[in-house]
Amino acid sequence: MIDQATIGKIIDTADIVEVIQEFVSLKKRGVNYIGLCPFHNEKKPSFTVSQAKGIYKCFGCDKGGNVVNFIMQHESLTYPEALKYLANKYHIEIVEKEQTQEEIQQKNERESLLIVSSYAQKYFTETLHKNEEGIAVGLSYFKERGFQDNIIEKFQLGYCLDKKDGFTNSALSKGYNLDYLVKTGLTIKKDDYKFDRFSARVIFPIHSLSGSVVGYGGRTLKSDDKAAKYLNSPESELYHKSKELYGIYFAKKSIVANDKCYLVEGYTDVLSMHQAGIENTVASSGTALTDEQIRLLKRFTKNVTILFDSDIAGKQASLRGIDLILEQGMNVKTLLLPEGEDPDSYCHKLNSSELINYIENNEKDFIAFKIQLFISEAKNDPVKRANLVTDIVRSIAVIPEKIVRSEYIKECSNILDTKEQILHSEVNKIISQKAKLKYYKDKSDDDATIKPVSAPLPYYIKEYFYEPQEREIIRLLLNYGNFEITFQNAEDDKEKSLTIMEFIINEFQSNDLKLIYPVYNKIFEEYQNHLNNGIRLDDKYFINHSDEEISKLTANLISSSYDLSKIWKRHKSEVPTEEMKLKEIVIETLILYKNKKVCMALEETEEQLKKAQEENLTDELKELQQKIIVLNDYKMLLSKDLDITIL
Ligand code: CTP
Ligand code: MN
Repeated sequence: MIDQATIGKIIDTADIVEVIQEFVSLKKRGVNYIGLCPFHNEKKPSFTVSQAKGIYKCFGCDKGGNVVNFIMQHESLTYPEALKYLANKYHIEIVEKEQTQEEIQQKNERESLLIVSSYAQKYFTETLHKNEEGIAVGLSYFKERGFQDNIIEKFQLGYCLDKKDGFTNSALSKGYNLDYLVKTGLTIKKDDYKFDRFSARVIFPIHSLSGSVVGYGGRTLKSDDKAAKYLNSPESELYHKSKELYGIYFAKKSIVANDKCYLVEGYTDVLSMHQAGIENTVASSGTALTDEQIRLLKRFTKNVTILFDSDIAGKQASLRGIDLILEQGMNVKTLLLPEGEDPDSYCHKLNSSELINYIENNEKDFIAFKIQLFISEAKNDPVKRANLVTDIVRSIAVIPEKIVRSEYIKECSNILDTKEQILHSEVNKIISQKAKLKYYKDKSDDDATIKPVSAPLPYYIKEYFYEPQEREIIRLLLNYGNFEITFQNAEDDKEKSLTIMEFIINEFQSNDLKLIYPVYNKIFEEYQNHLNNGIRLDDKYFINHSDEEISKLTANLISSSYDLSKIWKRHKSEVPTEEMKLKEIVIETLILYKNKKVCMALEETEEQLKKAQEENLTDELKELQQKIIVLNDYKMLLSKDLDITIL
């Protein structure tokens, strides 16, 4: 418990502009400061901070409050945690009474996980510096790799002993709860058997934006080891890998100061860049770069340079990253390192100023980068050359601002000696195709054919399915199959209506999809066959069906006790009847249904890729990487379609 006097002191001392500036780059505008809101995705700043009043307010998403609220919301902290954060920042002492075992247990889960995680960091760091094995194995490894003491300390690197449960036992003996050790993933528990996830590994703590340790990466030191080179913390209440960027806490100041960020792949790349004095560097660390990570960066700068390994995987990842960054309206450059190098290795070959020079002289915008990658094959092959142009055009088409697109078109036209006009029309074609994929937004379509709600999917994802989603589709058919929904045709303002049944069945037919789970498939096919003969079945038909499984299921799905659609619950606000939002629900259900198939395919392909990597199957590797890229593109397309429906 923090007493009222201390709370008052904290709030009086904390300067809201200073606090927020650590997370958002703010500009003075009149008496206030403005910046891009960290709580929603926006292009024009509507996030306002008033220093005099000590409050912030976003006119875009309506979030607002005082300095404590900001830290609570931004860092997902509880009230006391946020106060402690601020007290720490302003060196205000909080006198707390010693906590009893009971009180420790009562704290909310996240706070407990944070405490456990912070203990682990201290334990690993201490082991590295004080323990015999830690020094001989861990510390000497970091030194051999050329990391200096100040970097090792700053990043709080550590070591986990080569013992089954050295860390776990130490934590348990200190009174930390086994449950939390397991939830943070630091301890793995099988039946009664407990062991350290990271044993015999050097440890890279992953710091959140505000500097708490939320996860870990552990690198094995055994080169002959069959085990993965890096192990990372699993997803938890504390650690969402798609939202974290390794090094962001140490980089944010420098990113703002330089108005630029370097994006690298790995832990060691970040360390080496910082050591070389290039502190505006972060890593995506083992996950394909995500939208969320890019949005996080966008709060600090619009300029990103990708500096990935020079291997195939690195190049592919750069290409994917380019489009993701462009899509957020940011500027992206790429730098290809010499064959066989990654930023870490290269940092050790050049001194700081040589390195900075090298980067400045060799970073290229994405058009030049793509040309550099492909020109050698494309030079004398007109088909490949055309493909290269198409590829560049596709990237240009994802850029949100028209003016920026035009600039790039000009550049592309110059370099590849292709008419600007042609490029313009190609870009516009892609943009309008994308728009057309959205049936409900379709403007030009006036004939009777119904366009699918989103892009048709590749054939190989069709067998993947998730039973609850298939059940939901049947539930919608049974309950609302004959309800009509209408779509506005923007061009002539005419309304077109069709039934849910027609809509769903059309969607399945035009994607050549079918339900996989047997009983749902039976019901669906009966609907479909009858509809194709002009007959619209209703729920009574299925209630009285001769197949007992079907009639029981129907009764269950149409009874009013059945929960509202899960999707509908996501829409929160007041809950009117499901019917009022039927159109949205159906569209969303269909997109999520497809998305799940894509995700499942992606998971399996990634597994296959790992195997192929282990077995060194080069040809298969390329194919699988290609497949993953395609699937990721579908995923992105679908998630965009989903965004539009929700809005
Ligand atoms: N990575 C991972 N799991 C693996 C391999 C890699 O999570 N099995 C992540 C790590 O975050 C790693 C990054 O991907 O830092 C880049 O991988 P790689 O280039 O192989 O590792 P380096 O960082 O270069 O590590 P090192 O220099 O120690 O070999
Ligand atoms: Mn690397």
